[in-house]
Amino acid sequence: MPATTAEAAPGPMTPRPEILVLNGPNLNLLGEREPEIYGRTTLADIEAMCADTAAEAGLDVRCIQSNHEGGLIDAVHAARRSTVGAIINAGAYTHTSLALHDALKSYDHPIIEVHLSNPHAREAVRHHSYLSPVAAAVIAGAGARGYVHAVEILIDHLTNAKARL
Ligand code: DQA
Repeated sequence: MPATTAEAAPGPMTPRPEILVLNGPNLNLLGEREPEIYGRTTLADIEAMCADTAAEAGLDVRCIQSNHEGGLIDAVHAARRSTVGAIINAGAYTHTSLALHDALKSYDHPIIEVHLSNPHAREAVRHHSYLSPVAAAVIAGAGARGYVHAVEILIDHLTNAKARL
């Protein structure tokens, strides 16, 4: 029997699709760590900003921060079937982690890479990203606001996914 409109419409009991907001090493110290580079906004503030922006589009966020490479990889694996897209700031693992790159290749949803600073304007060691080849978009140098832009761009990718095929 076809679902009625009432059955199909999302209600308070229907879980909303989730996006993964994944932050890597040292980003738990946002607000305290090198504020001249990374700003004074805390990670809790950034996660709340992401949640507000996602909620406007009917999405929930799953926010995870890990200082460990394996913790980030486990979070990606766990999100493979239960989230619809991801925003990732892998911190310094951006520039070193082939393992995280491989994990993200197994994640079959849009990924937006975010950096508070612009790594390309910094030391040469920060110029290469293992994430960019698997990212639908990269936002760098926009500070905490970059995360909000990332959520908006992710929503755009999710909305237009069918049109792009
Ligand atoms: C960062 C840039 C990285 O090079 C650095 O290691 C970080 C933060 C950023 O958000 O600007 O930890 O990803």
